[in-house]
Amino acid sequence: MSIRNLIDITDLTVEEIDQLIATAEDIIENPVKYQDACAHKQLATLFFEPSTRTRLSFESAMLALGGSVLGFSEAQSSSTAKGETVGDTIHTVSCYADIIAMRHPKEGAPYAAAQFSEVPIINAGDGGHNHPTQTLTDLLTIHREKGRLDNFTIGFCGDLKFGRTVHSLVNALSRQSGIKFVFISPEELKMPDYIKETVLDKDSLPYEETASLEEAMPDLDILYMTRVQKERFFNEADYVRLKDTYVLDPEKLVPAKSDLCILHPLPRVNEITVSVDRDPRACYWKQVKNGKFIRMALIMKLLGIRV
Ligand code: NCD
Repeated sequence: MSIRNLIDITDLTVEEIDQLIATAEDIIENPVKYQDACAHKQLATLFFEPSTRTRLSFESAMLALGGSVLGFSEAQSSSTAKGETVGDTIHTVSCYADIIAMRHPKEGAPYAAAQFSEVPIINAGDGGHNHPTQTLTDLLTIHREKGRLDNFTIGFCGDLKFGRTVHSLVNALSRQSGIKFVFISPEELKMPDYIKETVLDKDSLPYEETASLEEAMPDLDILYMTRVQKERFFNEADYVRLKDTYVLDPEKLVPAKSDLCILHPLPRVNEITVSVDRDPRACYWKQVKNGKFIRMALIMKLLGIRV
């Protein structure tokens, strides 16, 4: 059997994503059915970059499937600090684990790692490039909140240049029908041309670009807020100047639709005030929970396990 990896969201067909969502929804309803699905299997989480939700949801997912976990949460505690290459680290870990989730600051590192692995590799975020499992989390949340993955207007707000979650989600939604994209960012943090050209223009998909969250708000069915990605900036002064461009608060939500769904991959810094958490339209804490269930479905799929 050939190894299935998840490096880019397009490694999964639209049908496979629908199946993962269906499995995740079944797990939510019937968790006991899945509690031994991955008994005696091991997941390695290799995080060369900081993480809270992604790493812990992967680990929690594997434990809930009856499997076990190993790994490291910072590059400095691995042999990377001694100068080991990613290839050799992955080669080593694939001798001990049945599946690997890795996060790395370099774009393309999980793809390179997959060339050295004998077990499935999951990209848990590579630099400012992609984050396919956050996208699965986002899609499950949209499906649960809206009952569908098509025919809506979605606004992406904040750091669209470096925000890898945005890149992967735009890619996934470009394969659905009737999606209108609104990209809300300062000039310096606009959606990269390579995504506009290779994902949107290729299929003549409609999108708007604006700097004004206020103007975009009334039309949105989904608002995807993002953090300005401090760690990707070359210049601290640019980060300081741009970091508070958008701060979502209850007042800004006054003109929004009553069934708006507000998403954020988290962590938030200052871009959503805590007072918004009480608004029933705030779905980002539900998103955190959903991240575990969709990762359970994904781990089973990549290990070829059915329940
Ligand atoms: C995101 C990431 O790591 O790209 N976080 C996450 O995985 N939930 C978003 C971010 O760090 O801003």
